Amino acid sequence: MSWIPEEIQSYCVNHSTRPSEIAKKLQDFTVQSVHGSNMLIGEMEASVLTFLIKLGRVRSVLEFGTYTGYSALVMAEQLPDDGTVTTIDVNVETCKIARRFWDESPHGKKITQILKPGLAAMEELTAKFDLVFIDADKNNYSNYLQWSLEHLSPTGIIVVDNTLWSGKVLTPGLDRQTDSIREHNERVNSLSGYTKTLLPIRDGMYLIQKT
Ligand SMILES: C[S@@+](CC[C@H](N)C(=O)[O-])C[C@H]1O[C@@H](n2cnc3c(N)ncnc32)[C@H](O)[C@@H]1O
Repeated sequence: MSWIPEEIQSYCVNHSTRPSEIAKKLQDFTVQSVHGSNMLIGEMEASVLTFLIKLGRVRSVLEFGTYTGYSALVMAEQLPDDGTVTTIDVNVETCKIARRFWDESPHGKKITQILKPGLAAMEELTAKFDLVFIDADKNNYSNYLQWSLEHLSPTGIIVVDNTLWSGKVLTPGLDRQTDSIREHNERVNSLSGYTKTLLPIRDGMYLIQKT
């Protein structure tokens, strides 16, 4: 999903920092062999996360929504040696694929997998994180946002994916997921003391940071 012509998107990707060969292999494997590969963040969004991690000197990442582990690996590759990615998902099969590819990467050791629903996992996490990436079940976006605001390091960044939801966010009452994302977006917009930008990159990346 992209709001710009494919050739412009490719040009942008080709002029941006790219993930490793292992990440590319994982992406290709997912597209060819795993159901739901349109859920992958893709290379354009990967390059934005890469840039944010470097810009924010991020050391610890919490991710809601592992899937086959592409975004977790992309982020791990940008962290210092003692950096950490903690990633949460409920799908045993896709998490097995993720671990298989992470094990091929020197950065895989930075990644810890929590195999639980996001709501249950966040109950057990007390640490503060430098970057939280929200990319799991849309109906809980507002819950994940609230938890993230409370567990963000002072200079931390929250990145929320799919916040345009293919443009459906323009229309209230379409379905539960759309309304949940709309509610989340209104909540972000109403936050005071935070700087926010909703970027039309892929399916919408909402960036939030304490002012
Ligand atoms: C959009 S995909 C994540 C894609 C991944 N971030 C990437 O780009 O490589 C969303 C994931 O959220 C997971 N998920 C769905 N409901 C969940 C829940 N209640 N708790 C945690 N994860 C959930 C799904 O199993 C799916 O793998």
